[in-house]
Amino acid sequence: MRLWKKIALALAAVFVILQFFRPEKNLGSSSGHDIAQSFTVPPGIQTVLLRSCYDCHSNHTVYPWYAEIQPGGWFLAKHIRDGKRGLNFDEYTSYRLMKQYRRFKDITENVENDEMPLPSYLLIHRYAKLSATEKNDLIQWCAAMRDSMKTKFPVDSLERRPPR
Ligand code: HEC
Repeated sequence: MRLWKKIALALAAVFVILQFFRPEKNLGSSSGHDIAQSFTVPPGIQTVLLRSCYDCHSNHTVYPWYAEIQPGGWFLAKHIRDGKRGLNFDEYTSYRLMKQYRRFKDITENVENDEMPLPSYLLIHRYAKLSATEKNDLIQWCAAMRDSMKTKFPVDSLERRPPR
């Protein structure tokens, strides 16, 4: 057998073997601590979050076809793990107040700077790209949610005081 044929067969075998190692899927549900428990999420905002953020920032991912083929599923699993660790809309109200307040700022910054949704994700999930209006709506909403927190809680429970 020619060398290139052997190499091709070996690669094909590796690819087949890879398929047996499947990451666990993120198919849970909201925990009773989802963001809507404490915050008003208007339908328009909800739609955008579900479409563009929830695959990596919730307890439930809508899996694309490439997740069934390794290593596609592994890449996605890593994004979900890292994304959920920082921000999980389904666990939002279990965070300390400071973190809830802080995350509304983080969302604004990430959206303003086009850092979220992850650019690599947008290559395949083009529908998840935020329009200028959607970005603006999200930013306004985050500001409104921060303001609503400020009316309910003392400011030192939301922001660390600057060091003296
Ligand atoms: C493909 C998965 C994916 C999608 C979709 C996605 N994110 Fe993320 N997000 C991540 C990952 C991964 C991180 C962690 C990045 C890091 O640690 O460098 C992250 C981090 C963040 C953070 C920072 C959290 C922290 O720890 O400070 C915010 C805020 C955020 N994302 C908001 C959003 C918003 C808002 C959307 C939707 C408009 C979105 N993300 C869509 C994967 C995603």
